Amino acid sequence: MEIIIQPTPEAATAIAARLIARLLKEKPDAVLGLATGSTPLPLYRALVDMQLDWSRVRTFNLDEYLGLAPEHPQSYHHFMWENLFRHVNIRPENVHIPDGLASDVPAFCADYEARIRAVGGIDLQLLGIGSDGHIGFNEPSSSLASRTRIKTLTQRTRADNARFFASADEVPSHVITMGIGTIMEARTNLLLAFGAKKAQALAEAAEGPVTAMNPASALQLHPDTRVCLDEAAATQLKRADYYRWVFANKPQWQRV
Ligand code: PGA
Repeated sequence: MEIIIQPTPEAATAIAARLIARLLKEKPDAVLGLATGSTPLPLYRALVDMQLDWSRVRTFNLDEYLGLAPEHPQSYHHFMWENLFRHVNIRPENVHIPDGLASDVPAFCADYEARIRAVGGIDLQLLGIGSDGHIGFNEPSSSLASRTRIKTLTQRTRADNARFFASADEVPSHVITMGIGTIMEARTNLLLAFGAKKAQALAEAAEGPVTAMNPASALQLHPDTRVCLDEAAATQLKRADYYRWVFANKPQWQRV
């Protein structure tokens, strides 16, 4: 796990944007795994401003609320089209987001996994982290080998996400999410975390034991995971000085 601590969310976002831009230039038909929530919003704005070519890019989103139609303003379909896809030249048929209205959820999930395999797997998976350590919507106690499936949100996650809804009761309790096993197969994972609210979960994920109680800790077993965070999210890391030194002293060819 490479931990990149930056003074501000903007500086951390700029590094993530450069990594994605470089991938799309090197591999114009790259397969991106995408995330929703507050954290990646500035990144999506930066990618739009970079005017990259998305004409051959394929995307798979991590998750979606069950019961919300694609046009629902709080659906992740709506989020992705509003904040990224409608501003770039991606082809709608290359966009994949779990279907919140799937009538046969297990069949839908198996098909989603098959589609990821059919395009050769995910090159770069973007991740946020929940205040409880979730990645995607893999809540604590999720199997570290899990695949795309239905999950039940914790009350903490529903409370965290209530800010997007008119009331906390309106936050759906069930979701479809890629599994931790699915995320672990991405060739690169890029996790962003900003703000003091993420500091504890992030420190446990990076420096604690690998445990289903903090699903992001599974990334310790992933061969190519980068974590871009701001100072506020880094406050509970025990080895922050070492990570800063590593980043400042990278050989030229490793710099981003
Ligand atoms: P946030 O969500 O970006 O809105 O903080 C992150 C997550 O729950 O994974």
